[in-house]
Amino acid sequence: MRIDIVTIFPAFFDVLDLSLIGKARARGILDLRVHDLRSHTHDRHRTVDDTPYGGGAGMVMKPEPWGEALDGILGEDAVLIVPSPAGELFTQATARELASEQHVVFACGRYEGIDQRVIDHYAARGRVRLMSLGDYVLNGGEVAAMAMIEAVTRLVPGVVGNPSSLVEESHEDGLLEYPIYTKPPVWRDRSVPEILLGGNHGAIAQWRREQSIERTRQYRPDLLS
Ligand code: ADE
Repeated sequence: MRIDIVTIFPAFFDVLDLSLIGKARARGILDLRVHDLRSHTHDRHRTVDDTPYGGGAGMVMKPEPWGEALDGILGEDAVLIVPSPAGELFTQATARELASEQHVVFACGRYEGIDQRVIDHYAARGRVRLMSLGDYVLNGGEVAAMAMIEAVTRLVPGVVGNPSSLVEESHEDGLLEYPIYTKPPVWRDRSVPEILLGGNHGAIAQWRREQSIERTRQYRPDLLS
C-alpha cells in the first residue's frame, strides 16, 4: 500500500519510522511518503494561508500550493482523505475500507481549513473523503491523519504479526472488547476472574461475550441500538 501525506509539518510524521509501521516500511509492505506543502510555494515567505473571503476569524489555506502538491501525487487509483471536523465520521468500517486501497493520500490542513475549491476540484476528478475523528476540534489534520494511518495500516496484511489479534478487538464485532488479564493471578488483593483460570473455552467465550455486551451497555449504549 502506498500512503502520501501533505503537510506544513512533515516532522509530525517522523514517528512513523517506529514500531509496527516502521517495520512494515522497512520490509516494503508500506510505501509511506511525507511531502512539505511549503515546497510548493513560490514567494519569499512561503505563504500557505490568507484571510477568508466573507470575513471571519482565522486564516484559510490557499489553493495554489495544494493544487501543485496534489497534482504531483494523485494518480487514477488514489483516494484523497482530508481530515476535518466537518467531515464524515471515521470508524473501524472506514479503516477496513481504506485498508483495501492501493493508494491513500492525506491532505493535512491547518488554520480554519483548506479553500473549498481544492476539495471540489479533486472530487470532480476522483475520490475525495472529508473525514472526522470525532466531535471535537484539533489544531490541524496531522494528528487525525496519524490516527487514521495507524488504524488503516494495522489492517494491511503483514503489518501486524499475528492477524488473529485483529479479530477479537473493540469494534470488530460492533461491541467494545471484554476486559483482559495476565499473570500474576492475584495483584493487590484483586484476583483474575475464576472462569479464565479453568480452561473451559466455551464458558470463557460466553463470559467474554457477556462482558463485551455489559461494557458496551455501560460506555457506548449508542452502539447497541
Ligand atoms: N481536524 C481538526 N479537527 C479534526 C477532527 N476532529 N477530525 C479530523 N480532522 C480534524
